[in-house]
Amino acid sequence: MSSLQTWNLRADFPIFQTGEVDNGLVYLDSGASAQKPQIVIDAVNNLYTNSYANIHRGVYKLSEDATRLYEGSREKVRHFLNARHSREIIFVKGTTEAINLLSYTLGQERVGAGDEILITHMEHHSNIVPWQLLCQRTGANLKVAPINDVGELDMEAFGDLLGPQTKLVSVAHVSNALGTINPVKEIVALAHAQGTPVILDGAQAVPHIPVDVQDLDCDFYVFSGHKLYAPTGIGVLYGKEDLLNNMPPYEGGGDMIESVTFEKTTYAQLPARFEAGTPNIAGAVGLGAAIDYLQSIGFATIEAHGQELKSYGNDLLASVPGLRQIGTAANKLALFSFVLEGIHPHDVGTFLAGDNVAVRTGHHCAQPVMERFQVPATTRASLGIYNNKADLEALVAAIGKLRKFFGK
Ligand code: ALA
Repeated sequence: MSSLQTWNLRADFPIFQTGEVDNGLVYLDSGASAQKPQIVIDAVNNLYTNSYANIHRGVYKLSEDATRLYEGSREKVRHFLNARHSREIIFVKGTTEAINLLSYTLGQERVGAGDEILITHMEHHSNIVPWQLLCQRTGANLKVAPINDVGELDMEAFGDLLGPQTKLVSVAHVSNALGTINPVKEIVALAHAQGTPVILDGAQAVPHIPVDVQDLDCDFYVFSGHKLYAPTGIGVLYGKEDLLNNMPPYEGGGDMIESVTFEKTTYAQLPARFEAGTPNIAGAVGLGAAIDYLQSIGFATIEAHGQELKSYGNDLLASVPGLRQIGTAANKLALFSFVLEGIHPHDVGTFLAGDNVAVRTGHHCAQPVMERFQVPATTRASLGIYNNKADLEALVAAIGKLRKFFGK
């Protein structure tokens, strides 16, 4: 178990220091993107300084070094997700690209006119719009499982919406706007009983919860590196080997082919088949370093720390008059979405920024969630491993000043 009193990882992250001194930044926007530890910055710097060349293409040492580092990261991701094979790990730009890739490949192959794709009301736009586009291309229908007033998935309704017509299920492991942790193992089992493959969007889950894709038995699991303390522009699509093997290619280009003539092209084996062109080599290396860093802390510790902060934050926020949390599921992360009576979230965000407290305000790329709770926007404080009790106290103190300023 972590101790909120002694937990201090801020020193690992240079953004919190100006010169030798802690600059007091209260960063509560890790749900949008996490800060980077020095160890990740160093891994990227070291690649470009000492080991950089294109991968898979050169027989000289630098290319071999870069290839080893890139493929080494793939193995780290395999271990991180407990996938069976590293060829089931495809490097992509991020969650959004992974879902778009699936909508064009798996979707195109499995979904036709009159078929259904099932998502939930708590998805962010990346797990809505690609499916709407697929429906437009194919004549399929998008079905949306409802959520209840505390922001939990209505599992009975979800089960009722599943049927032989459901060709794909795509669900967030954790909601970015509400913090709800979905019962994904149960969701996978229900969908599999209908023979329907399941995509889990792990963008908000992987920084906080240990994930075992074999235990979940999900067919696909996607996430972004930048929320996992790694660089932007790198992400992961995990897929079961047989399903990936049956999908048509996505982008065409170098490295994804076996042979090319003007008459006919044959495609490379996994994972290269879905990694056309020169990939984000430095991003992948940074992602490997971030995974090493997180595993050196331990996910049981990270998860316990998050849960302690959640309880502490809930108690503090409950003491603020006029504050209403949106999303109070029994099983959720240390992510606090809230509205303040009589004060627009954008004013909240701007005022808090003046106190060096960084939060996200707006619809969080999840407009249907805002519509469900009948609010135009919320203020969201989303925590990472560098956060501590003091950050939550600073948030609540700044809200107190803000309320005074607005005469509340
Ligand atoms: N999806 C990211 C968020 O929740 C950008 O803020």
